[in-house]
Amino acid sequence: MSNKIGIIGDGHVGSTVAQQLIISGLVDDLVLIDENKAKVTADELDFQDAMANLKHHVNIVINDYSALKDADIIISAFGNIALEAGGERFAELKFNKERIGAIASAIKESGFNGILVAITNPVDAITSMYQELTGLPKKHVIGTGTLLDTARMKRAVGSRLHVDPRSVEGFNLGEHGNSQFTAWSTVKVLEKPITELAKEQSWKLEDLNDEIKFGGQTVYKGKQYTNYGISAAVTRLVETIESDAHTEMPVSNYQEKYGTYLSYPAIVGRDGIIQQVELSLTEEEEKLLEASAATIKEKSQD
Ligand code: 2OP
Repeated sequence: MSNKIGIIGDGHVGSTVAQQLIISGLVDDLVLIDENKAKVTADELDFQDAMANLKHHVNIVINDYSALKDADIIISAFGNIALEAGGERFAELKFNKERIGAIASAIKESGFNGILVAITNPVDAITSMYQELTGLPKKHVIGTGTLLDTARMKRAVGSRLHVDPRSVEGFNLGEHGNSQFTAWSTVKVLEKPITELAKEQSWKLEDLNDEIKFGGQTVYKGKQYTNYGISAAVTRLVETIESDAHTEMPVSNYQEKYGTYLSYPAIVGRDGIIQQVELSLTEEEEKLLEASAATIKEKSQD
């Protein structure tokens, strides 16, 4: 069976995601779409120039929404860049809201019936709009959400404790934005709760909060966009969907309890969100999650 993936938006993020999917052999047919025809045409040619030296051949089509009909996954990576230091991803809402209507209609008209993955910010609000506008089942519309912030948390904790980030367990929850938080009660390193480790080593978990939460802004400050972190996160999500792995991941999924899309771990597979997971959070974390849900809902109205 061949894997067909559409990427909407061929900017810093979309093109890096395309490259990573091509290199990792996770895509056989790629549909690349961007309103900048010169850029997407040039990227297609550049990718074709790579084929002779790659292990895996990929068929590429550009700017053809009808080709999305039988795609397994569509990744929304369009957007402008608005993540200044201390900035809010919601600053991008106006620009992206003006475009999402036409994009979602074109997706719907194509007859697409697969899994839609949104990266476009503010991702929780955009994921919700995609679901409403396309009419796809909620479980088939997923935002990358705090999968990236969780990776930033694992990087920060791993570097503090000198362990591989992949040996750090736990989650960042809520908005992929400034109201998110690290649910420290879920974080474990080498089977030990981080709360105990920090106490033993006399440092405060809170000292890492800003480094994690504002990790995107820090990268932005140096190069005015972020691409590798998000691209690794979405590639892992694509692999999980394609292989029907049923992996627990903190992605943005519709949470009935809060009446919004927000990041909370769920089991992900070929049918999208297979099952939601129940965490035992502390009372304070529950409050932070409620506040984050309220922030997403309020700011989505702008
Ligand atoms: C990030 O956190 C900008 O949302 C993007 O890297």
